[in-house]
Amino acid sequence: MQTDITNIPTQYEAIATATRQLDFNMASDLYTGSLLKTLVASKPGARILELGTGSGLATSWIVSGMNKDAVLITVENNEVLLSVAKENLKDNSIQFVLADGYTWLKEYKGEQFDLIFADAMPGKYDLFEETFSLLKAGGFYIIDDMLPQPNWPHGHAERVHSFINHLETRNDIVLTKLNWSTGIIIVVKL
Ligand SMILES: C[S@@+](CC[C@H](N)C(=O)[O-])C[C@H]1O[C@@H](n2cnc3c(N)ncnc32)[C@H](O)[C@@H]1O
Repeated sequence: MQTDITNIPTQYEAIATATRQLDFNMASDLYTGSLLKTLVASKPGARILELGTGSGLATSWIVSGMNKDAVLITVENNEVLLSVAKENLKDNSIQFVLADGYTWLKEYKGEQFDLIFADAMPGKYDLFEETFSLLKAGGFYIIDDMLPQPNWPHGHAERVHSFINHLETRNDIVLTKLNWSTGIIIVVKL
């Protein structure tokens, strides 16, 4: 049942084709995308933050779950990848930001978000507190790649383990670890 992913965004295939041509091997999969769309749809009018746009695969799912009042800011430091996302996802509700996530997170002074998909080092393993402070109470913080992946560099497994331990010992969150996609954790801020 779970392998039968339906309602794939119309732009997804074009983005996937461009992504394969770029040999980008960190792309989010259909399972993560489908879950993101579902969670986004639970928050009409949401302010959404994606850290690590890549070529826009997950972004296409996020956008397909957004209602007309929702907005998305998505941050990526690779201009080539971001241009694929921009070309394929022309939508006024999306703000594409070409920036270093570390700098962007330290400088952002805008409103908090209802949902954050943290898919880059900044926002996840680095600057977590700064990122989490940008989430509203009741908001979703979502991360994938939490189960061992073939592209993990040496020492990354320990970092993942310690990050999960940290999340599990906090008393200001509720979380569920899912054996779904590459290993997803859904955190809700109290
Ligand atoms: C796991 S990939 C994101 C995949 C994407 N969510 C998708 O749907 O395919 C991580 C992305 O973070 C970007 N990235 C890495 N370091 C970054 C930084 N310091 N600031 C902004 N983006 C960064 C990479 O270029 C890469 O595109």
